[in-house]
Amino acid sequence: MDSIAEFRRRQGKLLVLTGAGISAESGVPTFRGQEGYWKVGSQDYHPMEMATHQAFAAMPEEVWAWYLYRRAVCLNAAPNAGHRAIASMEAHLQDRFLLVTQNVDGLHLRGGSSEERTFQIHGNIHYMRCDDGSPELTPIPEYFGADWAKGRALSAVERDTLSCPACPGLARPHVLWFDESYDEPLFRFESSLRAASESDLLLVIGTTGSTNLPLQIGEMFARRGCPIIVINPEPNPFTEFAASCAGGLFLEGTAGEHLPRLLGRLID
Ligand code: APR
Repeated sequence: MDSIAEFRRRQGKLLVLTGAGISAESGVPTFRGQEGYWKVGSQDYHPMEMATHQAFAAMPEEVWAWYLYRRAVCLNAAPNAGHRAIASMEAHLQDRFLLVTQNVDGLHLRGGSSEERTFQIHGNIHYMRCDDGSPELTPIPEYFGADWAKGRALSAVERDTLSCPACPGLARPHVLWFDESYDEPLFRFESSLRAASESDLLLVIGTTGSTNLPLQIGEMFARRGCPIIVINPEPNPFTEFAASCAGGLFLEGTAGEHLPRLLGRLID
């Protein structure tokens, strides 16, 4: 079965799921690749420990400094052909399109995807919020720029700049940490699962499938027997889901290589 021809014929709904791999060609490191964020540590900490609420509670300045550095990497990056191809898919398909991204880098939005149809299920590194769980987001102050160097410490004045606008405490980065759970108000958990149950074609790009919600989405498609197309330089759990359903495809290679071509096939 040609799942793309079938999708076009039936005017189906497309769900796109992305991970760090789509931003690799923009120069943002992945997490589990050779130079990935979870691989390159320091003498003081293992990087995965930094991405926990426990670390934030124990050493908030260090955690903030690390996120300001990661944010600077994102500010120095520009959306690539893959991000732009996905934005074009949305522009053509409109309410037949939804993007679920694990990326906090904001590159999809800068590449033309709309906030309305982009569920950022792990947050967005350009925002901060109150640590009490309320969903109001505040942009990170402009003072913190693209030149924030790795390892730079926060001064007391800089720490004050990151005060919570809603309470006397320190704000926190708007990201989902390892010791936290998905929810609807901040991370669109139920909406993402609903979209997965209502879509006809799943396109998965640049993720190892190491987190819970993306895997649930893949499993749901496989259970429903709906086609999955995977773009990745190497196989992963999603390629197995894709192989299990009629019309599934594994396009081995990079996002920048395959997405513009796929756009041409999905849309006239
Ligand atoms: N194009 C497409 N895929 C690529 C490219 C590329 N140019 N370069 C690398 N990849 C693939 C890798 O082969 C790998 O499968 O991208 C994937 C990146 O995987 P991870 O580093 O595990 O990133 P991701 O899957 O997004 O991680 C999920 O884990 O720690 C959490 O919150 C973090 O959102 C992150 C989540």
